[in-house]
Amino acid sequence: MTRPTCAAFVGTSLDGFIARSDGRLDWLERYQVPPEVTGYTAFFDSVDTLLVGRSTWETVADFPEWPYAGKRVVVLTRRPLPALHGESTLAGTPAEVLARLEALGARRVYVDGGAVVSQFLAAGLLDELTVTVVPLVLGDGIRLLQGPLPSRGLTLVSCRAQPLGLVQLAYRVG
Ligand SMILES: NC(=O)c1ccc[n+]([C@@H]2O[C@H](COP(=O)([O-])OP(=O)(O)OC[C@H]3O[C@@H](n4cnc5c(N)ncnc54)[C@H](OP(=O)(O)O)[C@@H]3O)[C@@H](O)[C@H]2O)c1
Repeated sequence: MTRPTCAAFVGTSLDGFIARSDGRLDWLERYQVPPEVTGYTAFFDSVDTLLVGRSTWETVADFPEWPYAGKRVVVLTRRPLPALHGESTLAGTPAEVLARLEALGARRVYVDGGAVVSQFLAAGLLDELTVTVVPLVLGDGIRLLQGPLPSRGLTLVSCRAQPLGLVQLAYRVG
């Protein structure tokens, strides 16, 4: 059997940041486009498992509503985690983690968090990357792509202009 597919779907500033340095996402608030329009709903429906970094989980756990309802959620962390919504935790290399997810029955994994996406990309285990670029230079913050990364070409699958000046780039990796 082939390994599970790993896909990321992120929003970035034009200068490649996914959050302010302190993790805040306030700069994204004025670029809210319905998830049916951005394709997020279809993407979310297509995955069976979420693999998120600890920092992303900490942001999401503070949301008024748990956004990952109905999915298997695995948090990458080396520290204990209060499982508020039935999340489990894993730690290890992308290959080790993916083997564990496969053993759990995962077939299509939503990989999220800059550090996690970057590790999967570096390991050659990220298959799809959708980046929605908002028309804003943030100036500083947490990068989507965190080195060291090997030089790697990607295949552009689609490029779509969206409302509010958003541009969505969908890539196949490898
Ligand atoms: N704009 C967007 O679309 C978007 C998307 C996702 C996230 N975000 C934002 O981005 C920020 C988080 O991104 P980030 O890059 O700082 O962090 P992250 O990838 O969410 O989490 C990093 C943490 O995950 C754990 N971790 C990572 N790799 C691991 C591994 N191989 N094994 C075990 N644990 C591992 C470590 O936590 P421990 O220290 O516990 O070991 C590490 O500190 C948040 O502010 C979030 O809201 C934005």
